[in-house]
Amino acid sequence: MKVDVLLGLQWGDEGKGKITDVLTPGYDVIARFQGGPNAGHTLEFDGIKHILHTIPSGIFHPDKVNIIGNGVIVDPYILARELKRLRERGANPERNLMISKRAHLILPTHRLIDAVEEASKGKAKIGSTLKGIGPAYTDKTRRQGLRIGDILAGTFREKYENLKTLHLRMIESFNPDPEILRIEGISYEEYEKFWFDSIEYIADIPLIDSEVYINRCLKEGKKVLAEGAQGAMLDIDFGTYPFVTSSNTISAGVCSGLGISPRNVGRVFGVFKAYCTRVGSGPFPSELFDETGEMLRKNGNEFGSTTGRPRRCGWLDLPALRYTVMLNGVTDLVMMKSDVLDTFDTVEVCTGYRIGEQILDFPGYETMNHSIVPVLKSIPGWNMPISNIKTWEALPEAFRKYTEAIGDALELPVSVISTGPNRDQTIIRNFSGQRND
Ligand code: GDP
Ligand code: IMO
Ligand code: MG
Repeated sequence: MKVDVLLGLQWGDEGKGKITDVLTPGYDVIARFQGGPNAGHTLEFDGIKHILHTIPSGIFHPDKVNIIGNGVIVDPYILARELKRLRERGANPERNLMISKRAHLILPTHRLIDAVEEASKGKAKIGSTLKGIGPAYTDKTRRQGLRIGDILAGTFREKYENLKTLHLRMIESFNPDPEILRIEGISYEEYEKFWFDSIEYIADIPLIDSEVYINRCLKEGKKVLAEGAQGAMLDIDFGTYPFVTSSNTISAGVCSGLGISPRNVGRVFGVFKAYCTRVGSGPFPSELFDETGEMLRKNGNEFGSTTGRPRRCGWLDLPALRYTVMLNGVTDLVMMKSDVLDTFDTVEVCTGYRIGEQILDFPGYETMNHSIVPVLKSIPGWNMPISNIKTWEALPEAFRKYTEAIGDALELPVSVISTGPNRDQTIIRNFSGQRND
């Protein structure tokens, strides 16, 4: 068998959590391969909303194995909090969750470094979630990071203190405002104590060589779904650098983030919203600054799942989508939050970027550094609620035309349509059938 991949095609928050949960019954294993608690993946069923940060979105299916892969970075404090909430809601994560020993740890001082570095950037700040993502991945590539597996060794505390000393020296050099040196509203010292308590709290989750486990599963004919975090436009190599996250969010990241061969990648589900959002700084060519943008934010409840920050909103950006469909080798398109456009008389899509006299149809290296005027195409809206519609055929004709126009522009039909946050508000139209296993 091959590993199917599900990932975001825009700037994150596309609805990956919901759709992973919907597809989970068709898989045996769900694995996260990159990112960390900067992610906030929302699932809704039985009238309850769950937000996951580190744990894969298949966790509510007790018979499915969920894996936090080696490419993920883990903050024990946030993971422990997630586990506690799951247990309060009747789940038993110790039975169906495992963590790669090779996953790197986010230390309390990584969060402080994130905070002081962002503060020092002033107007040029990335708009980071301040979860310590950049500093933890930096230590990984600097070959000085601590890994989950290190917790089991007798030398853990010593290694921790050595790295912490390096970090504190670096933090001091910023001469930071003491207010910045608080984490989750508490002092660094208190937070560090909770961090160590959290390591004990997560101790009943099995730590494994997940690359061996996953490859064995594939050999045994089990089906694996890799769940991405963030979105392709936040990819460290191909996103709107430097306003990106610090990992490879694209499908290539699955190979290094789980330890599987490129030959073992199967279907790639590319998830996008019927419009566009972005949290944090950086280019966003189709952004709306008027009441239409405000309406998208209101209708779509566009406030961050991790930070609560209002998300920037705009029309669907086809040049960016075309680019990310290409980078990821998407086989199946999944369109989310279609219902958010229900009340619009006209819906617009960005078909190109105008820079001076030139019109570009993809976000090239220089493109995003220029002031871009989006080329917009108007499409008639459907002006009726679609959240309770269950089949493609029953959807209003104007909606189907909008969807077909997107499929035509991307040369790939839209396979799945989400019409609301709930599990059952999902229309599976047809999968592409492009499997190569
Ligand atoms: P993720 O990070 O990609 O998992 O996405 P988030 O959970 O951060 O953000 C998606 C938000 O949209 C969540 O609040 C979901 O409950 C919600 N959502 C998902 N699909 C739909 C949909 O089809 N319609 C509406 N109205 N909301 C949706
Ligand atoms: P999910 O998985 C949306 C954004 C931040 C910031 C930039 C860098 O829920 O889609 P970082 O904390 O990684 O240093 O922040 O990336 N960002 C996200 N935006 N959804 C996410 O995750 C994000 N994770 C990071 O807002 O602009
Ligand atoms: Mg999110």
